[in-house]
Amino acid sequence: MKEKLEQIKLEAVSMLEAENADLEQIRIRFLGKKGELTSVLRGMGALSAEERPVIGALANEVRQYIEERLADAAVAQKAKENEKKLAKEKLDVTLPGSKIKIGKRHPLSQVQEEIENIFIGMGFEIVDGPEVEYDYYNFTALNTPENHPARDTQDTFYITENILLRSQTSCVQARTMEHKAPPIRVISPGRVYRSDAVDATHSPMFHQIEGLVIDKGITMGDLKGTLEIFAKNMFGADTKIRFRPHHFPFTEPSAEVDVSCFVCGGEGCRLCKGEGWIEILGAGMVHPNVLRMGGIDPEVYSGFAFGLGIERVVMRRYNIDDMRLLYENDVRFLEQF
Ligand code: DAH
Repeated sequence: MKEKLEQIKLEAVSMLEAENADLEQIRIRFLGKKGELTSVLRGMGALSAEERPVIGALANEVRQYIEERLADAAVAQKAKENEKKLAKEKLDVTLPGSKIKIGKRHPLSQVQEEIENIFIGMGFEIVDGPEVEYDYYNFTALNTPENHPARDTQDTFYITENILLRSQTSCVQARTMEHKAPPIRVISPGRVYRSDAVDATHSPMFHQIEGLVIDKGITMGDLKGTLEIFAKNMFGADTKIRFRPHHFPFTEPSAEVDVSCFVCGGEGCRLCKGEGWIEILGAGMVHPNVLRMGGIDPEVYSGFAFGLGIERVVMRRYNIDDMRLLYENDVRFLEQF
C-alpha cells in the first residue's frame, strides 16, 4: 500500500508538470470522491492495527502534497496566461505614427465664407432658402410674371408645372419679406441651377450670394457704400467699383457692378481682357412691385438688393480659366488653394 501511495504521488507530480496540465481533471482523478487516493484509503480495513496509522499518515501526507502542488500549478498557469496576454498586447511606442492626411476646404467654400464674414461684419444676417422652389418665388414674386421674357434667360429644371430648381438666390428676397418685417439686412448663399450645357464658363449648377436690405430711407448711396466696403475687403483696399446701367425685373434702377481689376489695378491686363474692370455682380433698388408682393409698403420702405456669382469671384481671384475644374474634385487641383 505504501508503494501504491508513492506511485500515486509520482504520477500526480508528473501529470502536473506536463505543459497545459488540466488541473481540475488531475484533482478529480487523484483527490476526488472516486479518486485514486480515496480508493486506497477504502482498502485500509484490510490492514493490521499497527500499519493503519502509518499508512493513514502517509496517505494524508500524499493528499496534502498533491493539494499544494495543484495550488502551485494553478498560480503558475495564471502567471503564464498573463504573460502571454501582455506579450500580445505589447505596444511599441517608438514606432512612427500613421499620418492623418488633413484635407482642405474647397475654394468655393473658402470664398463663400470670406464673403459671408465681410457682410456679417456690416451687420448682415445669413438666411437660407430651398433649392427646390416654387416658380412663384423664383419668378412671379420677383416681378417676373408668367410669359415674361426674362424667364427665358434663366431657363431651369422643372419638377412639376410650378415647382423648379431655383435659377437664382433672389427667391430668398421674396421669402424673407414674407416672414420678416423691416429693417431687413440679410445675405443668402446657395446653389442655383440653369439648363445650360457644361463648358469652361457654364455649369447647370453654380453658387450665388444674394443680398437684401430694406428699411426706411434706403437709397442707391447705401447700395454703393455697402458694395464698396465689400469690394475693398474682398479684393484689396485700393479697389474701386463702377456701376453700369442694366435691367433686372426685380430692381429699378438696376446695375451691373464692376470692380477695378485686382491684377493690374485698372491699367488693363490679361485677366480683365484689357478692360481694367471686372464684372462681379448685379444689383439695384428693390422694385416697388416686389416690396408690395412681399407685404411691405413701398411708400414707407425702400431697399436694395444684389446678387453675386461665387464661381466668378473664385475664378477671377485665382485666375482659373475653366469652371469645370471647380467641380471635378481633383485633389491635385484643390490642394493649391
Ligand atoms: N438674380 C440675378 C441673376 O441671377 C442677379 C441679381 C441681380 C440679383 C440684381 C439681385 C439684383 O438681387 O438686385 O442674374
